Amino acid sequence: MISPVIFIFSLLLSYSHAVQDFCVGDLTAPESPVGYSCKNPANVTADDFVFTGLGVPANTSNSNKAGVIPAFAPQFPGINGLGISFARADFAVGGAIPLHSHPGGSEVVLVAEGTIFAGFISSTSNKVYTKTLKKGDIMVFPQGLLHFQVNTGPSPATVFVSFSSATPGAQLLPLALFQNDLPTAVIAATTSLDIAEIKKLKAILGGTG
Ligand SMILES: *[C@@H]1O[C@H](CO)[C@@H](O)[C@H](O)[C@H]1NC(C)=O
Ligand SMILES: *[C@@H]1O[C@H](CO)[C@@H](O)[C@H](O)[C@H]1NC(C)=O
Repeated sequence: MISPVIFIFSLLLSYSHAVQDFCVGDLTAPESPVGYSCKNPANVTADDFVFTGLGVPANTSNSNKAGVIPAFAPQFPGINGLGISFARADFAVGGAIPLHSHPGGSEVVLVAEGTIFAGFISSTSNKVYTKTLKKGDIMVFPQGLLHFQVNTGPSPATVFVSFSSATPGAQLLPLALFQNDLPTAVIAATTSLDIAEIKKLKAILGGTG
């Protein structure tokens, strides 16, 4: 007769096969809505769980005077399937991350250096929530809501950002409107902006139509 202890132990062993500690993303395979498929665990190394590159500022030589270094699943496959990710953003004086939303997750921003004016807009009432953030402050931006950050201080600013998704995504409102071929007349009809302003912004951001 099998002893109860051995029986329970073998039961635990068989259950342990169902537990998967991690699913390091296999970036050579296509991404699905729930993430990447798993790299063969035999080929996973400590390097898969480390992202190097947030120690240097992002390039801010652009029209927004701000830059972002994402450590999302495509850059950091170790977080695949874990529902988290990270990023760093840097702002030159006057720099701004334009109005944007992350369809996949909520965001928490931590000001590491400088002064940031940040806010988001609710989807239910379009109420605006803004705050001036100092070094050490954190602010949360709920999933999917339009939000922004502006460096309103006299010096460059740095923030570190975490997300509740390995692939939060980002849709920037000015680019969605003015960097593609959505016809000017349609934008005018659907936003109440005037034609001249739309054409001006399309020229700046590389849109056509
Ligand atoms: C694992 O690594 C070995 C040796 O580099 C390679 O031959 C094999 O194709 C890899 N397997 C997977 C599933 O990536
Ligand atoms: C920053 O970006 C600008 C514009 O793309 C580029 O000309 C410049 O070389 C970049 N600077 C660094 C340090 O990569």
